[in-house]
Amino acid sequence: MKFHITTFGCQMNVHDSDWLTRALESRGWEQADEGEAQVYVLNTCSVRDKPEQKVYSELGRIAAHLKRDENVFAAVGGCVAQQVGRGFFERFPFVKLVFGSDGIAGAPNALECIAEGGDDRVALLDFVSIYEERETSEERTVSLPDTRQAFVNIMQGCDNFCSYCIVPYTRGRQKSRLPDVVVEECRALVESGIREITLLGQNVNSFGQDKGGVGVSFADLLYRVAEIDGLHRLRFTTSHPKDIAPEVIRAFGELENLCPSLHLPLQSGSDAVLKAMRRKYTQERYLSIVEGLKEARPDIALTTDLIVGFPGETEADFQETLNMVERVGYESSFSFKYSDRPGVAAVNMEPKVSPEEASERLMRLQTLQNNITKKCLENLVGLETVAFIEGLSRKQNGEETFWKGRDPAGRIVNVAMPESDGLIGMMVPVRILEAKKHSLMGERIGIPW
Ligand code: 5AD
Ligand code: SF4
Repeated sequence: MKFHITTFGCQMNVHDSDWLTRALESRGWEQADEGEAQVYVLNTCSVRDKPEQKVYSELGRIAAHLKRDENVFAAVGGCVAQQVGRGFFERFPFVKLVFGSDGIAGAPNALECIAEGGDDRVALLDFVSIYEERETSEERTVSLPDTRQAFVNIMQGCDNFCSYCIVPYTRGRQKSRLPDVVVEECRALVESGIREITLLGQNVNSFGQDKGGVGVSFADLLYRVAEIDGLHRLRFTTSHPKDIAPEVIRAFGELENLCPSLHLPLQSGSDAVLKAMRRKYTQERYLSIVEGLKEARPDIALTTDLIVGFPGETEADFQETLNMVERVGYESSFSFKYSDRPGVAAVNMEPKVSPEEASERLMRLQTLQNNITKKCLENLVGLETVAFIEGLSRKQNGEETFWKGRDPAGRIVNVAMPESDGLIGMMVPVRILEAKKHSLMGERIGIPW
């Protein structure tokens, strides 16, 4: 069978899709281009309205392939699948499988069964209360990317119920993996050549604080993973400010391979809005975390998520967000207009901010952020760092070949190097020459290793 997976949304979905690819390939299935597949899998996101709408237009496109081959069918997975469920079967008869993020473990078998004509329609929408392991370390390391980077899931789901967020409804309660299993997977990856690991979870700071917990905190886990011999770069995402422990802050000063960057979603700078969002921290508490982080690791690059136009947000509240963005000096941020999601508490909150007002606030916020990003990048010109090469850069300049890498904080660094291959997964010592809008230009100053 030839299959094609399209992924929307966060890194958790990307990671889930990578697993599904490995699982189907191990059954002898083959990845194919869109025009040639018989089975289409959409891994979906419903965190905001826009990504949800994309799923419907994508299914419309897939329907066209039925003309080529009437046996073509589709599976919808992830958050929209969990939300809409069997509703997909009625709206799109060629959808034969729906699976939520907890149901994905059963997706390969279900797909096989449907392809063999055994089952007509399957819905895998049950939540589980304990993390279900999906593969052994051997299976995990069967095919690894040349970039020598890997994501490792440490948990699934979220218990926070921030008032705007659909995630606790679509991904279920928080379920931590066992720390030994996580460490073993990381070790197997590093032994197979992986140099950078990103620990993934909806709220990594509350790792272990659920049914799957065994008294090992996120800080303990970080220290255990960091000591794996040969692991050059360690990252984690996402962190909820209310749960970040002093030990995790301290880790930034103590663990050499823990990268100096942290994504710490602020959402709003106004205490009143934060309260309505049920974020459980104040502006002051957030600033004290930032202070601690900068003390532990002065070169730490902070990034964030921000929502504008939350119900009840006044111009003064919005000003507080702008103030916070300036005070913290985020390297970059993702900012979104508030979007009503079905079933979340904020749907019933009033007054709604008009779409025009929200768009205008978003523009002001993004202009401010662009200026700060520019300054942050300009401050790096002249410094020496190491770029971990991910591939050829899209940037071309006459005869020169440019390679794209990342510095330890995760900033993109483009480097002119004459080699036409062999540099992916290499560390290249560089000096920063120039700051662009969202990236840096560097020159090689040492031997790649
Ligand atoms: N409206 C707008 N943005 C949202 N996010 C989550 N839910 C919503 C919503 N209803 C944003 C938050 C979160 C990011 C992944 O998406 O900023 O951190
Ligand atoms: Fe959503 Fe809040 Fe959980 Fe993040 S912490 S996934 S914003 S409920």
